[in-house]
Amino acid sequence: MKRTLFKKMFFIYGITLIFGFGVLALLLSQLFNQYFIETKKELLLEQGKKISENLIQALYTGRIDQQRLRDDLEVLDQFLKARIWIVNEDGLIVGVSAPAEEGFLGQRIAQDQLKQLWEQKVLYEEGTFGGKLSQPALSVGYPIYFERAFRGGILIHASLPEVRKTFADIYRITLGAMIFAMLFAYAILYFQVRKISRPLKEISEAAKIIAGGEFQKRLNIHTRDEIEELAKSFDLMAESLEKIEDNRRNFIASISHDLRSPMTLIRGFIEGILDGTIPPEQQQHYLEIVLAESKGIIKLTNELLELNQMQQGKVEVDNQVFELHEVLRRKLLSFEQPIQEKQLEVTLVLFQESAAVQADPDFLDRILTNLLDNAVKFTPHGDKIIIQTSEHKDRIWVEITNTGVTMDQEELEKIWTRFHKGDPSRGEDKRGYGLGLAIVKEMISRMDQKIWAESTDHQVKMTFTLTKSQMLTVCS
Ligand SMILES: Nc1ncnc2c1ncn2[C@@H]1O[C@H](COP(=O)(O)OP(=O)(O)OP(=O)(O)O)[C@@H](O)[C@H]1O
Ligand SMILES: [Mg+2]
Repeated sequence: MKRTLFKKMFFIYGITLIFGFGVLALLLSQLFNQYFIETKKELLLEQGKKISENLIQALYTGRIDQQRLRDDLEVLDQFLKARIWIVNEDGLIVGVSAPAEEGFLGQRIAQDQLKQLWEQKVLYEEGTFGGKLSQPALSVGYPIYFERAFRGGILIHASLPEVRKTFADIYRITLGAMIFAMLFAYAILYFQVRKISRPLKEISEAAKIIAGGEFQKRLNIHTRDEIEELAKSFDLMAESLEKIEDNRRNFIASISHDLRSPMTLIRGFIEGILDGTIPPEQQQHYLEIVLAESKGIIKLTNELLELNQMQQGKVEVDNQVFELHEVLRRKLLSFEQPIQEKQLEVTLVLFQESAAVQADPDFLDRILTNLLDNAVKFTPHGDKIIIQTSEHKDRIWVEITNTGVTMDQEELEKIWTRFHKGDPSRGEDKRGYGLGLAIVKEMISRMDQKIWAESTDHQVKMTFTLTKSQMLTVCS
Protein backbone atom coordinates (compact mmCIF):
# COMPACT_ATOMS: atom_id res chain seq x y z
CA MET A 1 0.00 0.00 0.00
CA LYS A 2 1.27 3.42 -0.95
CA ARG A 3 2.00 5.73 1.94
CA THR A 4 0.28 8.93 1.05
CA LEU A 5 0.79 12.13 2.97
CA PHE A 6 -2.89 12.03 3.73
CA LYS A 7 -2.71 8.65 5.41
CA LYS A 8 0.44 9.56 7.25
CA MET A 9 -0.88 12.77 8.70
CA PHE A 10 -4.21 11.23 9.48
CA PHE A 11 -2.53 8.39 11.30
CA ILE A 12 -0.14 10.57 13.29
CA TYR A 13 -2.74 13.13 14.28
CA GLY A 14 -5.20 10.35 15.03
CA ILE A 15 -2.80 8.69 17.44
CA THR A 16 -2.08 12.01 19.09
CA LEU A 17 -5.78 12.67 19.46
CA ILE A 18 -6.55 9.28 20.94
CA PHE A 19 -3.62 9.51 23.29
CA GLY A 20 -4.58 13.03 24.39
CA PHE A 21 -8.19 12.17 25.02
CA GLY A 22 -7.22 8.92 26.71
CA VAL A 23 -5.00 10.71 29.21
CA LEU A 24 -7.73 13.26 29.76
CA ALA A 25 -10.34 10.57 30.39
CA LEU A 26 -8.06 8.82 32.85
CA LEU A 27 -7.35 12.02 34.75
CA LEU A 28 -11.01 12.98 34.83
CA SER A 29 -12.12 9.59 36.13
CA GLN A 30 -9.51 9.81 38.85
CA LEU A 31 -10.66 13.29 39.78
CA PHE A 32 -14.32 12.26 39.79
CA ASN A 33 -13.57 9.29 42.00
CA GLN A 34 -11.77 11.38 44.51
CA TYR A 35 -14.33 14.13 44.46
CA PHE A 36 -17.36 11.89 45.03
CA ILE A 37 -15.74 9.75 47.69
CA GLU A 38 -14.54 12.88 49.45
CA THR A 39 -18.02 14.39 49.31
CA LYS A 40 -19.58 11.19 50.61
CA LYS A 41 -17.07 11.02 53.41
CA GLU A 42 -17.86 14.55 54.50
CA LEU A 43 -21.57 13.82 54.39
CA LEU A 44 -21.15 10.72 56.52
CA LEU A 45 -19.02 12.53 59.07
CA GLU A 46 -21.50 15.32 59.31
CA GLN A 47 -24.37 12.89 59.78
CA GLY A 48 -22.39 10.85 62.31
CA LYS A 49 -21.85 14.01 64.32
CA LYS A 50 -25.52 14.87 64.14
CA ILE A 51 -26.62 11.42 65.22
CA SER A 52 -24.22 11.40 68.13
CA GLU A 53 -25.08 14.94 69.22
CA ASN A 54 -28.84 14.90 68.67
CA LEU A 55 -30.33 11.45 68.58
CA ILE A 56 -28.12 9.73 71.13
CA GLN A 57 -28.20 12.69 73.50
CA ALA A 58 -31.96 12.73 73.14
CA LEU A 59 -32.03 9.04 74.05
CA TYR A 60 -29.91 9.51 77.14
CA THR A 61 -31.94 12.47 78.36
CA GLY A 62 -35.08 10.43 77.77
CA ARG A 63 -36.58 12.72 75.16
CA ILE A 64 -36.88 9.75 72.75
CA ASP A 65 -37.10 6.02 73.37
CA GLN A 66 -35.20 3.06 71.86
CA GLN A 67 -37.89 2.43 69.24
CA ARG A 68 -37.86 6.00 68.03
CA LEU A 69 -34.06 5.89 67.69
CA ARG A 70 -34.31 2.71 65.65
CA ASP A 71 -36.92 4.24 63.35
CA ASP A 72 -34.88 7.39 62.89
CA LEU A 73 -31.78 5.39 62.10
CA GLU A 74 -33.72 3.37 59.55
CA VAL A 75 -34.82 6.58 57.81
CA LEU A 76 -31.27 7.88 57.84
CA ASP A 77 -30.08 4.57 56.46
CA GLN A 78 -32.38 4.99 53.46
CA PHE A 79 -31.49 8.62 53.02
CA LEU A 80 -27.73 8.17 53.25
CA LYS A 81 -27.73 4.80 51.54
CA ALA A 82 -25.47 3.71 54.38
CA ARG A 83 -25.57 1.25 57.23
CA ILE A 84 -25.44 2.68 60.72
CA TRP A 85 -24.18 0.79 63.75
CA ILE A 86 -24.15 1.83 67.36
CA VAL A 87 -21.42 0.38 69.58
CA ASN A 88 -21.25 0.61 73.34
CA GLU A 89 -18.26 1.55 75.48
CA ASP A 90 -16.95 -2.05 75.30
CA GLY A 91 -17.00 -2.08 71.49
CA LEU A 92 -20.06 -4.31 71.21
CA ILE A 93 -22.44 -3.60 68.36
CA VAL A 94 -25.71 -2.88 70.12
CA GLY A 95 -27.78 -1.26 67.41
CA VAL A 96 -28.14 -1.49 63.61
CA SER A 97 -30.16 0.58 61.16
CA ALA A 98 -31.63 -2.22 59.03
CA PRO A 99 -33.10 -5.63 59.76
CA ALA A 100 -30.61 -7.20 57.34
CA GLU A 101 -27.80 -6.01 59.55
CA GLU A 102 -29.00 -7.67 62.66
CA GLY A 103 -26.43 -10.43 62.23
CA PHE A 104 -23.83 -7.93 63.36
CA LEU A 105 -25.46 -7.39 66.72
CA GLY A 106 -23.31 -8.62 69.54
CA GLN A 107 -20.14 -8.57 67.45
CA ARG A 108 -17.21 -6.59 68.70
CA ILE A 109 -15.22 -3.95 66.83
CA ALA A 110 -11.43 -4.00 66.89
CA GLN A 111 -9.70 -2.81 70.02
CA ASP A 112 -7.66 -0.05 68.32
CA GLN A 113 -10.81 1.30 66.67
CA LEU A 114 -12.51 1.48 70.02
CA LYS A 115 -9.44 3.14 71.45
CA GLN A 116 -9.59 5.86 68.86
CA LEU A 117 -13.23 6.56 69.64
CA TRP A 118 -12.42 6.62 73.31
CA GLU A 119 -9.72 9.20 72.56
CA GLN A 120 -12.49 11.29 70.94
CA LYS A 121 -11.03 10.76 67.52
CA VAL A 122 -13.07 10.42 64.36
CA LEU A 123 -12.61 7.09 62.57
CA TYR A 124 -12.19 6.87 58.82
CA GLU A 125 -11.56 3.75 56.80
CA GLU A 126 -11.87 2.48 53.28
CA GLY A 127 -12.19 -1.31 52.99
CA THR A 128 -14.09 -4.16 54.52
CA PHE A 129 -13.77 -2.83 58.08
CA GLY A 130 -11.40 -5.51 59.29
CA GLY A 131 -13.09 -8.20 57.21
CA LYS A 132 -16.52 -7.65 58.71
CA LEU A 133 -18.19 -6.31 55.56
CA SER A 134 -18.78 -8.32 52.42
CA GLN A 135 -18.22 -5.35 50.09
CA PRO A 136 -15.57 -2.62 50.35
CA ALA A 137 -17.06 0.41 52.02
CA LEU A 138 -16.37 3.90 53.16
CA SER A 139 -16.58 3.78 56.96
CA VAL A 140 -16.62 6.64 59.42
CA GLY A 141 -16.90 6.43 63.18
CA TYR A 142 -17.95 9.10 65.62
CA PRO A 143 -17.54 8.86 69.39
CA ILE A 144 -20.44 9.21 71.84
CA TYR A 145 -19.84 11.05 75.06
CA PHE A 146 -22.54 11.79 77.56
CA GLU A 147 -21.91 13.77 80.71
CA ARG A 148 -18.17 13.50 80.07
CA ALA A 149 -18.30 9.69 80.09
CA PHE A 150 -17.42 7.53 77.08
CA ARG A 151 -20.50 5.69 75.87
CA GLY A 152 -19.29 4.13 72.63
CA GLY A 153 -19.72 5.40 69.07
CA ILE A 154 -21.68 5.66 65.86
CA LEU A 155 -20.34 3.78 62.82
CA ILE A 156 -21.59 4.49 59.34
CA HIS A 157 -20.67 2.31 56.34
CA ALA A 158 -21.39 3.36 52.75
CA SER A 159 -20.72 0.61 50.21
CA LEU A 160 -18.12 1.86 47.72
CA PRO A 161 -19.65 0.18 44.64
CA GLU A 162 -22.89 1.91 45.54
CA VAL A 163 -21.20 5.29 45.96
CA ARG A 164 -19.67 4.84 42.55
CA LYS A 165 -23.00 3.93 41.05
CA THR A 166 -24.36 7.36 41.98
CA PHE A 167 -21.84 9.15 39.78
CA ALA A 168 -21.84 6.59 36.99
CA ASP A 169 -24.28 8.78 35.06
CA ILE A 170 -22.09 11.85 35.21
CA TYR A 171 -19.20 9.67 34.27
CA ARG A 172 -21.03 8.32 31.25
CA ILE A 173 -22.10 11.78 30.07
CA THR A 174 -18.56 13.10 30.33
CA LEU A 175 -17.16 10.14 28.48
CA GLY A 176 -19.81 10.47 25.78
CA ALA A 177 -19.00 14.16 25.36
CA MET A 178 -15.34 13.32 25.08
CA ILE A 179 -15.91 10.69 22.43
CA PHE A 180 -18.12 13.10 20.54
CA ALA A 181 -15.45 15.82 20.75
CA MET A 182 -12.87 13.36 19.53
CA LEU A 183 -14.93 12.29 16.56
CA PHE A 184 -15.59 15.93 15.77
CA ALA A 185 -11.87 16.68 15.96
CA TYR A 186 -11.26 13.72 13.70
CA ALA A 187 -13.73 15.02 11.14
CA ILE A 188 -12.10 18.45 11.13
CA LEU A 189 -8.73 16.77 10.86
CA TYR A 190 -9.92 14.78 7.88
CA PHE A 191 -10.93 17.88 5.94
CA GLN A 192 -7.89 19.83 7.00
CA VAL A 193 -5.49 17.12 5.95
CA ARG A 194 -7.30 16.66 2.69
CA LYS A 195 -7.03 20.38 2.06
CA ILE A 196 -3.26 20.08 2.29
CA SER A 197 -2.78 16.87 0.40
CA ARG A 198 -5.08 17.66 -2.51
CA PRO A 199 -3.17 20.62 -3.98
CA LEU A 200 0.07 18.74 -3.47
CA LYS A 201 -1.31 15.94 -5.57
CA GLU A 202 -2.37 18.47 -8.16
CA ILE A 203 1.12 19.95 -8.28
CA SER A 204 2.68 16.54 -8.64
CA GLU A 205 0.33 15.68 -11.49
CA ALA A 206 1.10 18.97 -13.22
CA ALA A 207 4.81 18.24 -12.86
CA LYS A 208 4.30 14.93 -14.63
CA ILE A 209 2.41 16.65 -17.45
CA ILE A 210 5.18 19.20 -17.86
CA ALA A 211 7.81 16.51 -17.76
CA GLY A 212 5.92 14.94 -20.64
CA GLY A 213 6.52 18.07 -22.70
CA GLU A 214 3.25 19.96 -22.24
CA PHE A 215 4.73 23.22 -21.06
CA GLN A 216 1.46 25.17 -21.21
CA LYS A 217 0.14 23.42 -18.08
CA ARG A 218 -0.61 25.86 -15.24
CA LEU A 219 -1.95 25.35 -11.72
CA ASN A 220 -5.05 26.89 -10.22
CA ILE A 221 -4.45 26.78 -6.48
CA HIS A 222 -5.63 29.49 -4.10
CA THR A 223 -5.04 28.26 -0.57
CA ARG A 224 -3.47 31.53 0.58
CA ASP A 225 -0.56 29.75 2.25
CA GLU A 226 2.81 28.22 1.48
CA ILE A 227 1.20 25.76 -0.90
CA GLU A 228 -0.14 28.60 -3.00
CA GLU A 229 3.36 30.05 -2.98
CA LEU A 230 4.73 26.74 -4.14
CA ALA A 231 2.13 26.61 -6.89
CA LYS A 232 3.10 30.11 -7.99
CA SER A 233 6.78 29.21 -8.13
CA PHE A 234 5.81 26.12 -10.03
CA ASP A 235 3.88 28.21 -12.57
CA LEU A 236 6.86 30.52 -12.91
CA MET A 237 9.06 27.54 -13.62
CA ALA A 238 6.58 26.24 -16.19
CA GLU A 239 6.51 29.66 -17.81
CA SER A 240 10.26 29.85 -18.18
CA LEU A 241 10.36 26.28 -19.44
CA GLU A 242 7.80 27.23 -22.03
CA LYS A 243 9.87 30.24 -22.98
CA ILE A 244 13.01 28.14 -23.27
CA GLU A 245 11.16 25.66 -25.44
CA ASP A 246 9.86 28.50 -27.64
CA ASN A 247 13.35 29.89 -27.93
CA ARG A 248 14.68 26.52 -28.91
CA ARG A 249 12.05 26.14 -31.64
CA ASN A 250 12.66 29.62 -32.98
CA PHE A 251 16.36 29.04 -32.86
CA ILE A 252 16.15 25.91 -34.96
CA ALA A 253 13.75 27.57 -37.37
CA SER A 254 16.08 30.54 -37.77
CA ILE A 255 19.17 28.44 -38.36
CA SER A 256 17.42 26.21 -40.87
CA HIS A 257 16.14 29.24 -42.70
CA ASP A 258 19.50 31.03 -42.67
CA LEU A 259 21.31 27.94 -43.90
CA ARG A 260 18.84 26.91 -46.55
CA SER A 261 18.99 29.98 -48.78
CA PRO A 262 22.78 30.09 -49.25
CA MET A 263 22.94 26.27 -49.57
CA THR A 264 20.27 26.29 -52.26
CA LEU A 265 22.13 29.03 -54.05
CA ILE A 266 25.42 27.14 -53.88
CA ARG A 267 23.85 23.93 -55.11
CA GLY A 268 22.13 25.74 -57.99
CA PHE A 269 25.33 27.38 -59.22
CA ILE A 270 27.42 24.22 -58.91
CA GLU A 271 24.78 22.22 -60.78
CA GLY A 272 24.74 24.91 -63.43
CA ILE A 273 28.49 24.72 -63.81
CA LEU A 274 28.51 20.91 -63.89
CA ASP A 275 25.71 20.48 -66.45
CA GLY A 276 26.98 23.33 -68.60
CA THR A 277 24.02 25.70 -68.12
CA ILE A 278 26.55 28.25 -66.92
CA PRO A 279 29.06 28.81 -69.73
CA PRO A 280 32.78 28.55 -68.87
CA GLU A 281 33.43 32.29 -69.27
CA GLN A 282 30.85 33.03 -66.49
CA GLN A 283 31.97 30.26 -64.17
CA GLN A 284 34.53 32.48 -62.46
CA HIS A 285 31.83 34.94 -61.50
CA TYR A 286 29.46 32.31 -60.10
CA LEU A 287 32.22 30.51 -58.22
CA GLU A 288 33.03 33.80 -56.52
CA ILE A 289 29.41 34.00 -55.35
CA VAL A 290 29.62 30.40 -54.14
CA LEU A 291 32.78 31.28 -52.21
CA ALA A 292 31.14 34.33 -50.62
CA GLU A 293 28.11 32.30 -49.64
CA SER A 294 30.23 29.55 -48.10
CA LYS A 295 32.15 32.19 -46.17
CA GLY A 296 28.83 33.47 -44.87
CA ILE A 297 27.85 29.99 -43.71
CA ILE A 298 31.18 29.53 -41.98
CA LYS A 299 30.76 32.92 -40.30
CA LEU A 300 27.30 31.94 -39.10
CA THR A 301 28.41 28.63 -37.65
CA ASN A 302 31.48 30.17 -36.05
CA GLU A 303 29.46 32.92 -34.43
CA LEU A 304 26.86 30.49 -33.18
CA LEU A 305 29.54 28.31 -31.70
CA GLU A 306 31.17 31.34 -30.11
CA LEU A 307 27.90 32.59 -28.64
CA ASN A 308 27.07 29.16 -27.32
CA GLN A 309 30.45 28.72 -25.68
CA MET A 310 30.20 32.13 -24.12
CA GLN A 311 26.73 31.47 -22.77
CA GLN A 312 27.94 28.22 -21.30
CA GLY A 313 30.70 30.16 -19.57
CA LYS A 314 33.45 28.36 -21.48
CA VAL A 315 35.19 31.53 -22.63
CA GLU A 316 37.46 33.08 -20.00
CA VAL A 317 37.56 36.84 -19.58
CA ASP A 318 41.14 38.03 -19.68
CA ASN A 319 41.13 41.60 -18.39
CA GLN A 320 44.15 43.73 -19.20
CA VAL A 321 45.05 47.38 -18.92
CA PHE A 322 45.49 49.15 -22.26
CA GLU A 323 44.97 52.41 -24.06
CA LEU A 324 41.45 52.73 -25.41
CA HIS A 325 41.73 55.73 -27.74
CA GLU A 326 44.51 54.17 -29.75
CA VAL A 327 42.41 51.03 -30.20
CA LEU A 328 39.46 53.15 -31.37
CA ARG A 329 41.58 54.97 -33.96
CA ARG A 330 43.01 51.76 -35.35
CA LYS A 331 39.62 50.05 -35.49
CA LEU A 332 38.15 52.98 -37.37
CA LEU A 333 40.94 52.80 -39.90
CA SER A 334 40.06 49.19 -40.67
CA PHE A 335 36.61 50.37 -41.81
CA GLU A 336 38.10 52.95 -44.15
CA GLN A 337 37.11 51.17 -47.33
CA PRO A 338 33.35 50.74 -46.72
CA ILE A 339 33.19 54.23 -45.19
CA GLN A 340 34.63 55.76 -48.33
CA GLU A 341 32.44 53.63 -50.55
CA LYS A 342 29.32 54.96 -48.80
CA GLN A 343 30.80 58.44 -48.48
CA LEU A 344 30.05 58.57 -44.76
CA GLU A 345 31.11 61.51 -42.64
CA VAL A 346 32.84 60.09 -39.58
CA THR A 347 33.74 62.13 -36.47
CA LEU A 348 35.86 60.90 -33.58
CA VAL A 349 35.43 62.90 -30.33
CA LEU A 350 37.81 61.81 -27.54
CA PHE A 351 37.61 63.42 -24.09
CA GLN A 352 41.40 63.37 -23.71
CA GLU A 353 44.47 62.29 -25.61
CA SER A 354 44.73 58.84 -24.09
CA ALA A 355 42.55 56.84 -21.71
CA ALA A 356 43.55 53.65 -19.94
CA VAL A 357 40.88 51.01 -19.50
CA GLN A 358 40.74 47.61 -17.96
CA ALA A 359 39.07 45.13 -20.29
CA ASP A 360 39.55 42.00 -22.33
CA PRO A 361 41.22 43.30 -25.50
CA ASP A 362 39.83 40.50 -27.67
CA PHE A 363 36.31 41.16 -26.41
CA LEU A 364 36.67 44.90 -26.98
CA ASP A 365 37.98 44.32 -30.50
CA ARG A 366 35.00 42.14 -31.27
CA ILE A 367 32.52 44.59 -29.69
CA LEU A 368 33.90 47.52 -31.69
CA THR A 369 33.92 45.49 -34.91
CA ASN A 370 30.31 44.47 -34.54
CA LEU A 371 29.07 47.92 -33.52
CA LEU A 372 31.01 49.75 -36.26
CA ASP A 373 29.96 47.11 -38.78
CA ASN A 374 26.33 47.82 -37.90
CA ALA A 375 26.82 51.57 -37.99
CA VAL A 376 28.46 51.45 -41.41
CA LYS A 377 25.98 48.87 -42.70
CA PHE A 378 22.78 50.61 -41.60
CA THR A 379 23.73 54.25 -42.17
CA PRO A 380 22.40 55.50 -45.50
CA HIS A 381 24.78 56.71 -48.19
CA GLY A 382 26.33 60.09 -47.30
CA ASP A 383 25.09 60.18 -43.67
CA LYS A 384 27.07 60.56 -40.46
CA ILE A 385 28.77 58.41 -37.84
CA ILE A 386 30.02 59.92 -34.56
CA ILE A 387 32.26 58.05 -32.13
CA GLN A 388 32.60 59.73 -28.79
CA THR A 389 34.18 58.87 -25.42
CA SER A 390 33.48 60.49 -22.05
CA GLU A 391 34.33 60.05 -18.37
CA HIS A 392 31.73 59.03 -15.75
CA LYS A 393 33.20 58.43 -12.31
CA ASP A 394 35.16 55.17 -12.53
CA ARG A 395 33.86 54.38 -16.02
CA ILE A 396 34.46 55.48 -19.54
CA TRP A 397 31.50 55.60 -21.89
CA VAL A 398 31.91 54.84 -25.57
CA GLU A 399 29.10 56.09 -27.79
CA ILE A 400 28.66 55.16 -31.42
CA THR A 401 26.00 57.22 -33.13
CA ASN A 402 24.78 56.97 -36.70
CA THR A 403 22.16 59.03 -38.51
CA GLY A 404 19.47 58.17 -41.01
CA VAL A 405 17.67 55.43 -39.03
CA THR A 406 14.95 55.59 -36.37
CA MET A 407 13.96 52.63 -34.17
CA ASP A 408 10.97 52.53 -31.85
CA GLN A 409 11.13 51.28 -28.28
CA GLU A 410 9.90 47.82 -29.15
CA GLU A 411 12.55 47.40 -31.81
CA LEU A 412 15.23 48.72 -29.47
CA GLU A 413 14.47 45.94 -27.03
CA LYS A 414 14.50 43.21 -29.62
CA ILE A 415 17.81 43.94 -31.30
CA TRP A 416 19.77 42.12 -28.57
CA THR A 417 18.15 38.73 -29.17
CA ARG A 418 19.93 36.35 -31.49
CA PHE A 419 18.67 36.09 -35.04
CA HIS A 420 16.77 39.32 -34.72
CA LYS A 421 17.13 41.28 -37.95
CA GLY A 422 15.45 44.59 -38.43
CA ASP A 423 13.83 45.25 -41.77
CA PRO A 424 13.40 41.98 -43.68
CA SER A 425 13.23 43.82 -46.98
CA ARG A 426 16.64 45.42 -46.58
CA GLY A 427 19.10 45.33 -49.39
CA GLU A 428 22.05 43.18 -50.39
CA ASP A 429 24.63 45.21 -48.47
CA LYS A 430 22.74 44.83 -45.20
CA ARG A 431 22.88 41.06 -45.03
CA GLY A 432 23.59 39.45 -41.69
CA TYR A 433 22.32 36.80 -39.35
CA GLY A 434 21.27 38.99 -36.45
CA LEU A 435 23.95 37.57 -34.18
CA GLY A 436 26.26 40.59 -33.94
CA LEU A 437 24.53 42.40 -31.10
CA ALA A 438 23.77 39.18 -29.21
CA ILE A 439 27.51 38.49 -29.11
CA VAL A 440 28.25 42.09 -28.09
CA LYS A 441 25.73 41.94 -25.28
CA GLU A 442 27.13 38.67 -23.98
CA MET A 443 30.71 39.97 -23.99
CA ILE A 444 29.75 43.22 -22.30
CA SER A 445 27.97 41.41 -19.51
CA ARG A 446 30.83 38.94 -19.11
CA MET A 447 33.04 41.96 -18.41
CA ASP A 448 30.45 43.32 -15.92
CA GLN A 449 29.74 46.32 -18.11
CA LYS A 450 26.57 47.79 -19.56
CA ILE A 451 25.35 48.52 -23.05
CA TRP A 452 22.18 50.26 -24.17
CA ALA A 453 20.65 51.65 -27.34
CA GLU A 454 18.74 54.87 -27.81
CA SER A 455 17.03 56.26 -30.85
CA THR A 456 15.65 59.68 -31.59
CA ASP A 457 14.65 61.24 -34.88
CA HIS A 458 16.87 59.73 -37.60
CA GLN A 459 19.53 58.73 -35.14
CA VAL A 460 20.63 55.54 -33.39
CA LYS A 461 23.04 55.69 -30.48
CA MET A 462 24.79 52.69 -28.91
CA THR A 463 26.55 53.33 -25.60
CA PHE A 464 28.70 50.93 -23.62
CA THR A 465 30.81 51.33 -20.52
CA LEU A 466 34.37 50.28 -19.68
CA THR A 467 36.25 50.35 -16.40
CA LYS A 468 38.79 53.13 -16.20
CA SER A 469 42.30 52.23 -15.17
CA GLN A 470 44.99 54.43 -13.64
CA MET A 471 47.98 52.36 -14.53
CA LEU A 472 49.07 51.87 -18.03
CA THR A 473 51.43 49.03 -18.77
CA VAL A 474 53.50 49.65 -21.83
CA CYS A 475 53.40 46.79 -24.25
CA SER A 476 56.20 46.34 -26.68
N1 LIG B 1 23.65 51.09 -35.76
C1 LIG B 1 22.45 50.63 -36.13
N2 LIG B 1 21.60 51.37 -36.84
C2 LIG B 1 20.41 50.89 -37.20
N3 LIG B 1 19.96 49.67 -36.92
C3 LIG B 1 20.75 48.87 -36.24
C4 LIG B 1 22.04 49.29 -35.78
N4 LIG B 1 22.59 48.28 -35.08
C5 LIG B 1 21.72 47.26 -35.11
N5 LIG B 1 20.60 47.59 -35.78
C6 LIG B 1 19.42 46.74 -35.97
O1 LIG B 1 19.51 45.65 -35.09
C7 LIG B 1 19.49 44.41 -35.80
C8 LIG B 1 20.37 43.40 -35.10
O2 LIG B 1 21.73 43.75 -35.24
P1 LIG B 1 22.83 42.65 -35.25
O3 LIG B 1 24.16 43.29 -35.35
O4 LIG B 1 22.59 41.76 -34.10
O5 LIG B 1 22.50 41.82 -36.54
P2 LIG B 1 22.91 42.06 -38.03
O6 LIG B 1 23.85 43.19 -38.13
O7 LIG B 1 21.64 42.13 -38.81
O8 LIG B 1 23.62 40.70 -38.39
P3 LIG B 1 25.12 40.29 -38.02
O9 LIG B 1 25.60 41.30 -37.07
O10 LIG B 1 24.97 38.93 -37.44
O11 LIG B 1 25.86 40.29 -39.29
C9 LIG B 1 19.92 44.77 -37.17
O12 LIG B 1 19.41 43.85 -38.10
C10 LIG B 1 19.34 46.15 -37.36
O13 LIG B 1 18.00 46.08 -37.74
MG1 LIG C 1 25.60 43.32 -36.95
